[in-house]
Amino acid sequence: MEPMLEATGLTKTYGQTRALDDLDLTVAGGQVFALLGPNGAGKTTLVRTIATLARLEKGTLRVAGHDVRTEGAQVRRAIGLAGQFAAVEPALTGRENLQMVARLFGHTRRGARDASDRVLEQLGLTDAGSRPVRTYSGGMRRRLDLGASLVGAPRLLLLDEPTTGLDPRSRTELWAALEDLVAQGTDVVLTTQYLDEADRLADQIGIIDHGRLVAVGTANELKSRAGQDVLDVRLADSADLDRAAGLLGGEPTIDRADRRLTAPLTGGATEMLHRAGALTEAGIAIADVALRRPTLDDVFLSLTGRPTDDTDDTDDTGTLEESA
Ligand SMILES: Nc1ncnc2c1ncn2[C@@H]1O[C@H](COP(=O)(O)OP(=O)(O)OP(=O)(O)O)[C@@H](O)[C@H]1O
Ligand SMILES: [Mg+2]
Repeated sequence: MEPMLEATGLTKTYGQTRALDDLDLTVAGGQVFALLGPNGAGKTTLVRTIATLARLEKGTLRVAGHDVRTEGAQVRRAIGLAGQFAAVEPALTGRENLQMVARLFGHTRRGARDASDRVLEQLGLTDAGSRPVRTYSGGMRRRLDLGASLVGAPRLLLLDEPTTGLDPRSRTELWAALEDLVAQGTDVVLTTQYLDEADRLADQIGIIDHGRLVAVGTANELKSRAGQDVLDVRLADSADLDRAAGLLGGEPTIDRADRRLTAPLTGGATEMLHRAGALTEAGIAIADVALRRPTLDDVFLSLTGRPTDDTDDTDDTGTLEESA
């Protein structure tokens, strides 16, 4: 089977910013692929490029076998795209919203009814379908928005931060809806800043930072890259952080806001007690100490040298709505 996405040397600049910097990526069909990265990493830019909404400067990109430069129409036919903001009409029912989209897609009245019923069923909204959307919860609206991108029965669904801003219950509902879709054969490429989301949904995860792909693998592969267990020490006083980092060993990363030191650990509980003991002996007060398995956060940290929630670069200019 040909890859769903095949990108080589993708480059896209905005002024001095390299939003995509010589990015290579191949994604096989039949799976959920998550692009994980901090604010400003280039996730939205990549999604917009795949969706033919942003023009590529350099490199080649094939989506479902079609070149985004020369076969844009075929690419658009193969994909569905849902952004962060639900674009549905609150006064209409869920079913009416989907029928409207289907008509825009060129379906006949009859075809639009069938398509909307199929999508409501796919997303578990059949019962809610005859209610006005203004009575929907945020999570239901997001699902309906997802539904709008499914009316055209795309081979590949592109989702840019599908659960940002949702409460935990709505997130779980949306995840379940996505899992059903995938089980029914739709490929998904989604972006997220949430490690647990990538962990839960994705077959493969690509970590993107500064417009480059820094690692690709399953959640387990990526975690095993981050090495063994992790030692986490939270101090009572942030003034002790630098001294404690020297005493703890293993070149810990320092999270100043959280007064936390994190370092790899190979010797289990004995080593944890020994190393934490070195701090207490030096008169440094410990608020918390823990040994844990590496998370995707640790992977990210070990690959990029900073945590995923390090939001230095919060200028959030690249929305899906804006024109290319
Ligand atoms: N239209 C634009 N004009 C200028 N700069 C842009 C534009 N779109 C994106 N950028 C810049 O390109 C870089 C990548 O942006 P992008 O929106 O792709 O990041 P992101 O990973 O989606 O971030 P976020 O998690 O905040 O959504 C950022 O530095 C951003 O400021
Ligand atoms: Mg974005």
